[in-house]
Amino acid sequence: MQIDPLTAHFGARVTGVDIASPLDFVTFKQIRQAFDDYSILIFPDQALDDQTQIAFSERFGPCEPTVTANPAKGTVFARQSNLDIKTGEPIPLDDRRMAYQKANYLWHSDSSFKAIPSLCSILSAREVPPEGGATEFASTRAAYASLSDEQKAELDALVVEHDFVRGRALVGYEYTPEERSPYPPVRHKLVRTNAGNGKKSVLVGAHASSIVGWPEEKSRALLDDLLERATIPENCLRHEWRTGDVIVWDNQAAVHRATAYDAAKHRRLMQRTTISSQGAWPEFQA
Ligand code: OGA
Ligand code: MN
Repeated sequence: MQIDPLTAHFGARVTGVDIASPLDFVTFKQIRQAFDDYSILIFPDQALDDQTQIAFSERFGPCEPTVTANPAKGTVFARQSNLDIKTGEPIPLDDRRMAYQKANYLWHSDSSFKAIPSLCSILSAREVPPEGGATEFASTRAAYASLSDEQKAELDALVVEHDFVRGRALVGYEYTPEERSPYPPVRHKLVRTNAGNGKKSVLVGAHASSIVGWPEEKSRALLDDLLERATIPENCLRHEWRTGDVIVWDNQAAVHRATAYDAAKHRRLMQRTTISSQGAWPEFQA
């Protein structure tokens, strides 16, 4: 297995390993260590199906069940696709299911709106458009590192509220009474510390609605500033997908967003699993 860094700040390409087959302890330990170090791991040319994706995901920890309006509701997958889950045919562009996906175009951290935030997401490219549909990543660890010592000390005490409906509201998606968000707003420490290497980052993105106890304007200004620090070009990584690519990203040390593709012309099917930070490896090994 070879691990090649992709940028000065984060991201690595991992080759010479078949993640669809059971990995020995030492190999997985190296992957987990690289995940802590690089936040984004790209595995090209993998042959994952749903079953092997779940098996690989569970090496990191327990998969979160999907209970939102995602078409894969009731499974551990979040399906990101313009293809109908039953027929495989393209979904009309004006369909509500397409509107729901628009929130993915905002910088976000998956599941930051859950009471227990996630450790990571694993996205596997099953069908990709010939152009467009790249995913971008930005380092919230680099954002934290860019702060002065005084700012770091101030941030350490802060608590941030995350609300699932915020991102959807920003893109104009309105919930029907039946599909109301199952997630009430939650509170998390703003500053996150990687248990493996002690590196700190901030939990921000589209779901972050306010800093607890701060007036609205000041709170929004800080959250926007932190996201801006994360998303300056030097701290970003853009991935143009090929079928078979699998990316593991750290939801506490990075934010990500989808980019557009021609959904009227092309097919795109991505399957995501999301791993809870509670009971994650190696904690549950002990
Ligand atoms: C996700 C996501 C981006 C994309 O699966 O969580 O944000 O490009 N996907 O599909
Ligand atoms: Mn996402």
